[in-house]
Amino acid sequence: MSRRACPKEAGVLSVLVVLMLVGTAVAAAEAQPITVLVTYHSGTGNTEKMAQEVTAGAQAVSGTKVVLKRVGDVTTNDLLISDAVIVGSPVYFGSMAGEVKTFFEDWTTKFGVFPDRRMRNKVGAAFATGAAFSNGKEFTIVTILGAMLINEMIVVSGGGGFGASATTGPDSPGVDEKEAAEARALGKRVAEVAALVKSGATR
Ligand SMILES: Cc1cc2nc3c(=O)[nH]c(=O)nc-3n(C[C@H](O)[C@H](O)[C@H](O)COP(=O)(O)O)c2cc1C
Repeated sequence: MSRRACPKEAGVLSVLVVLMLVGTAVAAAEAQPITVLVTYHSGTGNTEKMAQEVTAGAQAVSGTKVVLKRVGDVTTNDLLISDAVIVGSPVYFGSMAGEVKTFFEDWTTKFGVFPDRRMRNKVGAAFATGAAFSNGKEFTIVTILGAMLINEMIVVSGGGGFGASATTGPDSPGVDEKEAAEARALGKRVAEVAALVKSGATR
């Protein structure tokens, strides 16, 4: 190695070291573990099946822990430790099931997370199942997202335009593979966005 080449090579080496250090820092920020709460009501199993698929999608994102619970079993701690909440409901007379509405009302009365906006900047999303092709699934999703917006959450779509949904009545019984894939896509997107939000918050 000639003496004249040394400073140049040393310079290149320094740049490489700096790039490696920056890369490691960014990777550390991006590798933040996140917790996603997937919660739902289900009377006959369709929304529960979607919840399981949403869970699988979120778990496919490295570093993601998923808590899967019925809305009636959620605790205050489940809400507080979550980085994202994905809520699913069957359509009951064009809107969310009473159990899911009660769950959101509990955010004020039972869990007490609404008054100080303790869910603020957590990521939120929704999914729904309904018997008919067009009889309230999107409205159900949007009303769930509305409750999240009032709590100053960051709502996202995924799977479908507003969230994931499945038609379960006689013309299209149960949750088919396309609808299951939509649910997995929703879970994956929420986990990805929650990781981005969390890593951004730590910088
Ligand atoms: C009380 C009640 C009201 C319902 N209202 C609607 C409705 O307005 N629109 C619709 O598409 N399906 C409606 N359904 C059908 C359910 O939304 C559908 O079967 C759903 O997939 C049930 O989800 P689950 O299996 O998770 O309970 C209703 C079902 C019940 C029990």
